[in-house]
Amino acid sequence: MKALVLAGGTGSRLRPLTHTMAKQLIPLGNKPVIRYGIEAIVAAGISEIGVVVGGAAHELRDVIGDGSRFGARITYLVQEEALGLAHAVRVARDWLGDEDFLMYLGDNYLPSGIADLVAQYRAERRALVDAWILLAKVEDPTRFGIAELAADGTVARMEEKPAAPVSDLAVVGVYLFTPAVHEAVAAVGPSARGELEITDAVQWLIDSGRTVRGSSVTGYWKDTGTVDDLLEANNAVLEDVERSVRGEVGEGSEVIGRVRIEAGASIVRSRVVGPAVIGADVLVRDSVVGPFTSVADGCRITGSAVRSSLLLEGVRLDGAGPVEGSLLGRHARVAGPGPGTVAQRLVLGEHSSVLLAGDRTRSPQDPPQEGFKGTS
Ligand code: TTP
Repeated sequence: MKALVLAGGTGSRLRPLTHTMAKQLIPLGNKPVIRYGIEAIVAAGISEIGVVVGGAAHELRDVIGDGSRFGARITYLVQEEALGLAHAVRVARDWLGDEDFLMYLGDNYLPSGIADLVAQYRAERRALVDAWILLAKVEDPTRFGIAELAADGTVARMEEKPAAPVSDLAVVGVYLFTPAVHEAVAAVGPSARGELEITDAVQWLIDSGRTVRGSSVTGYWKDTGTVDDLLEANNAVLEDVERSVRGEVGEGSEVIGRVRIEAGASIVRSRVVGPAVIGADVLVRDSVVGPFTSVADGCRITGSAVRSSLLLEGVRLDGAGPVEGSLLGRHARVAGPGPGTVAQRLVLGEHSSVLLAGDRTRSPQDPPQEGFKGTS
């Protein structure tokens, strides 16, 4: 069995970050979200992986490589335009051949993995199943592809983002397909939003008398398509962080709880409150970081307070805060007059500069402020 990981798409809900990077490369706990998926696929015993890529093909290749470091063999399949999930299957048609395959959406986070599902599928494949989808109960079914189950547990009906949902079982981004799906994706036409929907292809299978089974996810699942979903998934990853301090924690600093501090990081006159991760070569000085905060490699946080946030590589916070519920793209800079009482919520694209109100004589490019004591 092969696996098809979908890492194309436009990521419009995560703009401006996705103007310059693939959303599947946004890190949770400092690890790109797509790596969790690839590791789960390998752990389920599948090593032949096709990754569907769009505009960010080069960057994905740089980060994921040929798969050898994961024990996999990765082939990149270019989807010139993000025309939908069923279109991605069309693009992969030749590479997939006539084998069963697992399809995994590259922005999904499922910490419990998919090994049990794949094992069950392999065992029960002969029970004349044409497709098998993974489902999870959700609070707002209008945001998802929804499945209605028949009394015998098979899927009776599928609907993409229904205005009047018939069930609260959302399609999680994991599917198992037999080659019957190729006929289905070739048959469906564009939806109202102009995409070839995989839900329509699955509905086509049902309408053609094929058997589609659904089983429920038992553990946590998150589709990281929006800022709030990303922050929530990051929190879930951080919940499992174990304390490990490899960087330097200077006098006058406190590291509280489950915090991972990578080598080369330096914590000076600051508090880091877990759960949190601090990447390599990060400087935290006169600041408070955490809880529920991931700080990627090479960030510099001085005279600031940040919590419940995701900072990508090379971010600089200088005299800013409290910053919370924020997603800061690579090399974004935020400067301010020093931590105040009003929390700032920011979503910044790569290399953005923001100067928070309070001191209009400073610019984000000015040297960092000294002397602020970031203890609470
Ligand atoms: P979506 O999150 O449904 O779509 P999107 O990436 O275009 O994002 P947005 O809705 O915010 O504009 O995609 C789910 C996964 O499938 C994601 O990893 C991207 C991938 N994908 C493709 O590979 N090809 C496509 O044509 C589409 C639409 C998505």
